[in-house]
Amino acid sequence: MKISKIMQKALNDQITLEASASNSYMAMASWCEVTGYEGGASFFYAQSDEERTHMLKFIHYLNNLGISSVIPAIKSPASNFKSLESILKTALKNEQTVTTAIHKMVEISQKDKDHSTYAFLEWFVNEQVKEEIKFETLIQKFELIGRDKIAINEIDKTLAASAVTFTANAAG
Ligand SMILES: [Fe+2]
Ligand SMILES: [Fe+2]
Repeated sequence: MKISKIMQKALNDQITLEASASNSYMAMASWCEVTGYEGGASFFYAQSDEERTHMLKFIHYLNNLGISSVIPAIKSPASNFKSLESILKTALKNEQTVTTAIHKMVEISQKDKDHSTYAFLEWFVNEQVKEEIKFETLIQKFELIGRDKIAINEIDKTLAASAVTFTANAAG
């Protein structure tokens, strides 16, 4: 099966985007761990793993088509953060960028009448809807519960619970 050069490049670029996401979530997890946000740490370590599995999906898809995927060098992610809230906001922005990239690839596949890549990308379209909702809901908690120490501790517990949900889903 053949896919266009433009589609190949877009899929390869997505490997970089998923790898960067995985690295920046790992940096966020590490910051949370050092700062004492245990929930945030387990949430972002799990999130980092999740992005790595996305990256692998693109690598396997290209390789299975006989197109060698390019494993990219990744720039160092930001590692100094202000607060749990600002991290979650940065993460949402990152997810929105990924959503835009996925949608662009869907458009290329439609233009190319590339039905297999279109079908492959469908999972990512749905995944991005879930990802954006996940971060929007977590950010909302600051408005609902507050930003004092007790509120942030509650939100950290919510993050711990979200990490567990992901691990359970990934296993199933
Ligand atoms: Fe992803
Ligand atoms: Fe994501």
